[in-house]
Amino acid sequence: MKTAPVPELIDPMEPSDIQGSGRDAIGLGRVKGEGLDARHGTILSLEDINVSFDGFKALTNLSLYIGVGELRCIIGPNGAGKTTMMDVITGKTRPDSGTAFFGDTLDLTRMSEVEIAQSGIGRKFQKPTVFEALSVFENLELAQKTDKSVRASLKAKLNGQQKDRIDEVLSTIRLETSRHRPAGLLSHGQKQFLEIGMLLMQDPQLLLLDEPVAGMTDAETEFTAELFKSLARKHSLMVVEHDMGFVDTIADHVTVLHQGQVLAEGSLQAVQNDERVIEVYLGR
Ligand SMILES: Nc1ncnc2c1ncn2[C@@H]1O[C@H](COP(=O)(O)OP(=O)(O)OP(=O)(O)O)[C@@H](O)[C@H]1O
Ligand SMILES: [Mg+2]
Repeated sequence: MKTAPVPELIDPMEPSDIQGSGRDAIGLGRVKGEGLDARHGTILSLEDINVSFDGFKALTNLSLYIGVGELRCIIGPNGAGKTTMMDVITGKTRPDSGTAFFGDTLDLTRMSEVEIAQSGIGRKFQKPTVFEALSVFENLELAQKTDKSVRASLKAKLNGQQKDRIDEVLSTIRLETSRHRPAGLLSHGQKQFLEIGMLLMQDPQLLLLDEPVAGMTDAETEFTAELFKSLARKHSLMVVEHDMGFVDTIADHVTVLHQGQVLAEGSLQAVQNDERVIEVYLGR
């Protein structure tokens, strides 16, 4: 396995930046998370988040912090609010109250879904959504382009640097030998890896992964664990998963959600020994 790279230091901002106002103060003027201000070492801060659906409280005063470069696993029973939390982070669901910051300055509750994605938060849903008729390489090529027209994007010539980046990602997701295969012919697991590769093309600082190993073979699950460990530090990862064996392999820090709140947090061993966690989730 590749050793995880040393965390990239984020340049401190110029003092003049700190005084920013309007769009810049909430970071909307920034592109792709470059210069994300996370000097306090926290990439994501959720504080007192409340979300209700027709009176049903899906998230209740949820507070959670993720450190820069951290690989955090989120576990908890069905309906605990894990996916809803990701919906809040990505702007799909607006909280009734509470704050959500990406780095120190980007107020996620004031940004659109597109702005959030462009600022450096990548999300992977459970079902892979690759372009089946296009090759693996072309899928990565499209993910890199900002022009959303498929035909225009594929017609535009790639420069050397862009090709190198695609090769790098192909090797990271172990699909070098399948580069010319139509994505529709890949296994379920390989499609998942391709989709992770497509996210990586955008170079996100924070990756949200909802039940990434569901439906994977043991070998694919094992590779996913290696992949996530190699991505941590350079990226921050929030991984929701029910597969405890997988969580045990990757997590150094686990958050247990229950009824829209943090029930416990700590090492997997610590939360596994927590009576309340055993009661509501792990069973006896
Ligand atoms: N759009 C919605 N409208 C109404 N209720 C919703 C909506 N989205 C989620 N809920 C409810 O909010 C609660 C939390 O759901 P959520 O999907 O976040 O749970 P989860 O922790 O991801 O569960 P699972 O492990 O099953 O994926 C559930 O009771 C769910 O039914
Ligand atoms: Mg869910």
